[in-house]
Amino acid sequence: MINTFKSDVQEGLDASPKTLPSKYFYDKKGDALFVEIMNLPEYYLTRSELDIFKNKTQDLIDGVDIKLNSYFELIELGAGDGLKTKELLKELDAQNFKFDYFPIDISSNALELLQKDLNTELPNVSVRPQQGDYFKVLDSLKRSNKPKVILFLGSNIGNMTDEIASQFIYNLGSNLNAGDKLLLGVDLIKAKEIVLPAYNDSRGVTAAFNLNLMTRINNELGANFNINNFKHQPEYNEKDGVAKSFIVSTVNQTVEIKSIGKSYQFLAGEKIRTEISRKYNDVLIEKIIDNTDFTLETKIMDSKEYFADYILTRH
Ligand code: AVI
Repeated sequence: MINTFKSDVQEGLDASPKTLPSKYFYDKKGDALFVEIMNLPEYYLTRSELDIFKNKTQDLIDGVDIKLNSYFELIELGAGDGLKTKELLKELDAQNFKFDYFPIDISSNALELLQKDLNTELPNVSVRPQQGDYFKVLDSLKRSNKPKVILFLGSNIGNMTDEIASQFIYNLGSNLNAGDKLLLGVDLIKAKEIVLPAYNDSRGVTAAFNLNLMTRINNELGANFNINNFKHQPEYNEKDGVAKSFIVSTVNQTVEIKSIGKSYQFLAGEKIRTEISRKYNDVLIEKIIDNTDFTLETKIMDSKEYFADYILTRH
């Protein structure tokens, strides 16, 4: 892990323009900051998808087209605190569906907390946490041959380029059987006035989340970034529907990264791209699934039409 981190940081900072991968936001501090982000008034994404899971639960159940008496596996990629999924689990349980819930997450701590919480609140639901890499776990679950519903929520797919997203969905399909479902939660393209504040909150939590990447490089790779000489800068292009986060150097400076054995120059105003958060519409989703084994079935939106859960079928 540490070596991939090192080589990914080196590759990103050697590139022109410089980049750093957003997957490294999520150390202990980053996880806590992301939980704070999800509760911010400006970060509408989580609330919008929760609105779907709370108020359109039956549409979700009808959309995945599971029969009451046939057993299925509900598999969530990156379950986190399971807040939204709990709404669906409650309803499936109340209607006596037969299923096991497999939350997959990198964090064993998050999984333990989720299992405890669900065992208390929904004692009849069978929760079978799986710690590790999504595809390794899916490969192990593949052997069961039971009907599967995969949840990939929170617009997590939006942190991938369209090409990688397409490859990711293709790979999901190769672990599934015909008729299996994918419930894909995505943020929709909308006005700059709504999207930008979600990535530039007034309390500065998103800025801290972004800049924490440099603190992490300092701590884990022996660097000497002075985060007071850098600032967070989000951008959103409404036409393309792509939000990007940057870290901008506010002065001319040199930063040494000991474990890479190299120093990097940053010019005043130089931008390092740290994240893309893609927003979608039907045309983009169709394009992304075009070369995969999925077909689009249904689209379920929240009351403000900010967010959509697309239901796809593996054909
Ligand atoms: C996890 N992911 C979908 C979030 C997003 O909206 O792109 C991460 C995030 N970055 C800044 N704020 C939240």
